[in-house]
Amino acid sequence: MPQPASPTANTSPGLHRLSRRRLAGQRVVITGGSSGVGRALAVELSRRGGVVLATARRQHLLEELAATSGVSILAGDITSAAFRSQLVAVAERRLGGIDVVVAAAGSGAVGPFSSADPATLRRIMEVDFLAPAELVRLSLPALHASPDPAIVLVGSILGLHPLPWHADYCAAKSALHSLAAALRVELSTIPIDVLLCSLGPTDSEFWDSLLVGQRPRWSHGRSLSAAVTARIIATALERRRKEVFPGWPAKGYALAARLCPWLIDTIMRRRMAAG
Ligand SMILES: NC(=O)c1ccc[n+]([C@@H]2O[C@H](COP(=O)([O-])OP(=O)(O)OC[C@H]3O[C@@H](n4cnc5c(N)ncnc54)[C@H](OP(=O)(O)O)[C@@H]3O)[C@@H](O)[C@H]2O)c1
Repeated sequence: MPQPASPTANTSPGLHRLSRRRLAGQRVVITGGSSGVGRALAVELSRRGGVVLATARRQHLLEELAATSGVSILAGDITSAAFRSQLVAVAERRLGGIDVVVAAAGSGAVGPFSSADPATLRRIMEVDFLAPAELVRLSLPALHASPDPAIVLVGSILGLHPLPWHADYCAAKSALHSLAAALRVELSTIPIDVLLCSLGPTDSEFWDSLLVGQRPRWSHGRSLSAAVTARIIATALERRRKEVFPGWPAKGYALAARLCPWLIDTIMRRRMAAG
């Protein structure tokens, strides 16, 4: 059974938090492990010495991941409460505890809100907000017992300021961002680190796996690779960052969302009018 990572040589509780997190030996549970950012992060954290348990629904892709990286796997639907309980129990049994929970699984939907099926909104909220929130809650007892615990929530720049035709997804990611901000303070006394990743356009299966609709023409552009994104997130975790915006498009959007959200709205109004 892997031994929990020793934070540092410091003996004073909390003092080690002034130094970089040592990923070597950290026991990591990661969702969305079958493709894109979750898969790349499972590989990257394992490469940096983490002991990783990855999950997603597609067993054959998880088996490929396990065969090439040595990552431990468990297939299931993260929106199922029974599966989330099984995942935490399996992590405690196989890894001997949990130091880091990474919620990377997500799904999108594109189209006008007015004509969308209410079931899509419910599903998006389940996958992108409720499942990660409940997985975090379920993992808290194990994180409490960790010498250096952390929560990593994979959000989106669309959680900072929404775009039209993505209302369901933006609402779910915005809720996830709000959860991260609340937990960052609430769990700071334990202390548990909370890292929020506001991703911009990233190469993955995201646009091929939309629950509804198609990738809008205006969203095509330069994307960051999942591998580079994973390296940036892993380093942010090591450095105990609170938030990360991988790539310049994400940084630029985050700045505009804060300083001039009206500009984003104006550009989108024009693009929609142009068709
Ligand atoms: N790609 C982008 O441009 C972009 C931009 C901003 C934010 N993000 C966010 O980044 C995260 C990773 O997405 P990605 O870009 O890597 O897309 P992706 O390649 O489509 O990966 C999504 C992952 O989530 C898993 N998943 C989806 N629904 C699930 C469910 N019900 N139960 C268990 N696993 C489920 C998928 O696995 P299975 O299908 O095998 O279950 C897959 O591993 C998501 O949270 C997404 O919202 C992506």
